[in-house]
Amino acid sequence: MPSNQDIHWAELRTVARQAARMAYAPYSNFFVGAAGLTDDGRIVSGCNVENASYGLTLCAECGMVSDLHRSGGGRLVAVAVTGPDGNPITPCGRCRQLLVEAGGPDCIVNEDTTVGALLPGAFEFPAEG
Ligand code: THU
Repeated sequence: MPSNQDIHWAELRTVARQAARMAYAPYSNFFVGAAGLTDDGRIVSGCNVENASYGLTLCAECGMVSDLHRSGGGRLVAVAVTGPDGNPITPCGRCRQLLVEAGGPDCIVNEDTTVGALLPGAFEFPAEG
């Protein structure tokens, strides 16, 4: 597991920024990109995709988690979420829960916090027995 200093944050932010530029956000005009580093060194990404039925909107993190599984699975160890300018965006509540599942509490978010700090006491499916 790489430590925070070993993570190439500039590269992750660049991928997130490029993803944000591809977002489909005609309703909010709020363009978001997410880029994640996997535990085997891949970079996965996603952008937000809105819908006329507003509640169906897919956040950038949803697309990134889909790309994680599409490209071979594994775990996210670090995630950058940004706008098209590269400035950090804090993940929404639902996406914090997605990041718990895809990366766990030690996954680093936007260089300075973790999923565990963003969502303490997260729901996890109870083990059987
Ligand atoms: N959005 C994301 O993509 N990720 C977040 O974590 C926060 C919100 C998107 C959803 C919607 O398209 C727009 O930002 C405004 O809420």
